[in-house]
Amino acid sequence: MKEKTEDHALMDKIVSLCKRRGLVFQGSEIYGGLAGTWDYGPYGAELAHNVEELWRKHFIRERDDVFAVQSATLMPEAVWKASGHLSGFTDPMVECKKCHHRFRADQLSDKKKCPDCGGELGEEKVFNLLLPVALGSVEGKSNMAYLRGEIAQGMFVNFKNILDTMRPELPFGLAQIGRAYRNEIAPRDFLFRVREFDLMEFEYFVREADWQKYFEMWRIEMWRWIERVGIEKDKIHELEVAPADRAHYSKRTIDFEFDYPFGRKELYGLAYRTDYDLKKHSAESGAEMSYFDEVKKEKFIPHVIEPTFGHGRTMFAVLLSAYREDEMNGEKRVYLKLKPEIAPVKVAVFPLLKNKPELVKKAREVYAVLKKEIGAVEWDDNGNIGKRYRRQDEIGTPQCVTVDFETLEKDDVTIRDRDSGEQERVKVKELVAKLK
Ligand code: GAP
Repeated sequence: MKEKTEDHALMDKIVSLCKRRGLVFQGSEIYGGLAGTWDYGPYGAELAHNVEELWRKHFIRERDDVFAVQSATLMPEAVWKASGHLSGFTDPMVECKKCHHRFRADQLSDKKKCPDCGGELGEEKVFNLLLPVALGSVEGKSNMAYLRGEIAQGMFVNFKNILDTMRPELPFGLAQIGRAYRNEIAPRDFLFRVREFDLMEFEYFVREADWQKYFEMWRIEMWRWIERVGIEKDKIHELEVAPADRAHYSKRTIDFEFDYPFGRKELYGLAYRTDYDLKKHSAESGAEMSYFDEVKKEKFIPHVIEPTFGHGRTMFAVLLSAYREDEMNGEKRVYLKLKPEIAPVKVAVFPLLKNKPELVKKAREVYAVLKKEIGAVEWDDNGNIGKRYRRQDEIGTPQCVTVDFETLEKDDVTIRDRDSGEQERVKVKELVAKLK
């Protein structure tokens, strides 16, 4: 048997922590699981939401030049024909003649022998990743739609609507967060390669002459995001994607790769999509996709810079970056050093003992105030204090507040810091300000 490397052990630890603490579960697990799908439990859903909110804040709300849209996940065949995905959104696939397992041909070292059963592999085929859906009661070509393979098309097909309603001036961006679906041949590596995932992405429309300037601007901004969300910067590496490896719409792409436990692979992408999509949609739909510059009296189809962020891969990279093991008070512990802004629980409140009504009453009062002021606050009175700290450490709760007998006399509580384990006494009336 192969010995597990440290990195693979880390992967196992993260997957098991995610399951144990209700962050991430296999999709449809009680039926044996559906490959390439994952469900978020209560803490995972909070973390996912907080990552989205931070992204929205960073790329939309703190700026004046990016507008949010939210488009349908079902789009007709015509969209995917125009975008080039019907012909170009493919992976090379081979199938084993014996066990019928399918593999991505470009990920196999031996293209003749099945890695699962040793059987003979068939001819390499082109496999389209779009997921078709037959809409309505009558099946047929005219009703054919696809679950969106990328959310970008929702921004392109709404370009004219935005020009007509918002009258934005170039440069400006259209952003959205939402589901994408890909019929991946070989989903694997936890949240890394799945069949259904959220994307956080925007199309930034510019004049052709300015594309390099804005490409560089977004490259720098993507690094700022990486730091802000809490992904280890020294695990990120930019890769200038070779022309042959770029998507069909791109004239330049930089991948932001991350050192996952299974190797260095794509986390985010930054692409110069030229005027490819708007031009194609204009030609196929007949809609006017030009921008009119009122000052220069010029009409033209803008070019596009596209920063794209896989949401699941962000969650995964954040968890890998935050995972820590150390020893505290003579005991081994695991904790997630999450940025407070994205931690699923911001503060946990404990009564020292749960069978002392006076402590529970006071702790409930403190809890009610914090819940109102901070929101993501958790009550825990299960087991001893040490165990409660460990539980909160594992989900990355930055601070825990304990109400003890001294509280009843002096109206102060203990705040315990997740990373250092240090404790300090704080007056109840100063608690909200201190925690915030
Ligand atoms: N609109 C451009 C676009 O969709 P992409 O490189 O195909 O580009 C964007 O995908 C991002 O989506 C990637 O950088 C990655 O973070 C994430 N991603 C792609 N395929 C994925 C999959 N099968 N599972 C999880 N995330 C995926």
